[in-house]
Amino acid sequence: MKGTQVAQSLTLLAPAKLNLSLAILGKMDNGYHELLTLMQSVNLCDVLKFQFASASSVTHQVNLVVENDTTRSDFPLDDTNLIKKAANLFCKTLPVLPPTKIQIIISKNIPIGAGLAGGSSNAAATLLALNEYFGNPMTMFQLLDLGFQLGSDVPFCLIGGTSLGRGRGEKLSHVSFKTILYFVLVKPKDLFVSTAWAYDAFDRSQAGLPHTDLESHNQKLIAHLLNGEISEAAGLFNNDFEPEIFKHHAVLVKIKERLIELGCLSAHMTGSGPTIYGLTQNLNQAEKILASILQDHQLHVDCWLAQSVSYGAKVIENGKD
Ligand code: C5P
Repeated sequence: MKGTQVAQSLTLLAPAKLNLSLAILGKMDNGYHELLTLMQSVNLCDVLKFQFASASSVTHQVNLVVENDTTRSDFPLDDTNLIKKAANLFCKTLPVLPPTKIQIIISKNIPIGAGLAGGSSNAAATLLALNEYFGNPMTMFQLLDLGFQLGSDVPFCLIGGTSLGRGRGEKLSHVSFKTILYFVLVKPKDLFVSTAWAYDAFDRSQAGLPHTDLESHNQKLIAHLLNGEISEAAGLFNNDFEPEIFKHHAVLVKIKERLIELGCLSAHMTGSGPTIYGLTQNLNQAEKILASILQDHQLHVDCWLAQSVSYGAKVIENGKD
């Protein structure tokens, strides 16, 4: 801890992630899949407040509380939650840290099991918060390494913005463009997809899509984004999971078709789903499309407006003594 200026509380944003492109190149020897994926942070965010106090015990105490009404039983508050895993891993990696009571209050806005990397972003926020409180004992490079031990998407969530990811998605090449992208996100209310199940389903399907010129496909996509050519970029969005996941969940095809009918430039699933995002021309069109989806009671979905942001998990409030 630095001097006498001890931060007692830190509030962080943890943004959701969309995959604008996602190609599964094959299964690696370690059982994970090799990817080429263009990822984008959006302003649908969880908010995490960390309160720190020195502990009289010999070990760290991490307590997690949900502030808003999350009745989903699969947001565990025990040590299986990625937030607690991240805090425990950070403290274990630096055993010299003074024992500390860490209370984490989360306001959960990113849906769970939705393909939006909510858990990974929460873990990224936790690593950043603890590093900040303890006086930045770890470099960003070390945090990326810790993050990768927690999950494939955590490194991206630490950096945020737009990045082309290779490997399991952790080898990141940052892309910086000015155009703001406006999305409508749509998720069936009672549908949750496990990432491990989705990869298994993909393997069983032997989907092996032809991956000719994937690098140049992504470079073209990035060039269009850099030039502000949104319609052209939208035409190159893709996700290899779609054919297989759509076979199991026909409602996703319906949502995708509805978004296109309503005027989206393109509509795709993010990650292993089930959230479908539609890219719109501007905020005004996004609002109209969102209103139409909300009025369509047959769909039985949750939906959100989201726009691209250039940041990942970040501190927004620092309550010092
Ligand atoms: O890395 P993460 O914990 O998010 O991955 C969840 C599961 O998804 C893994 O256990 C693995 O089955 C699968 N996965 C994969 N290849 C990747 C990422 C995830 O097979 N690149």
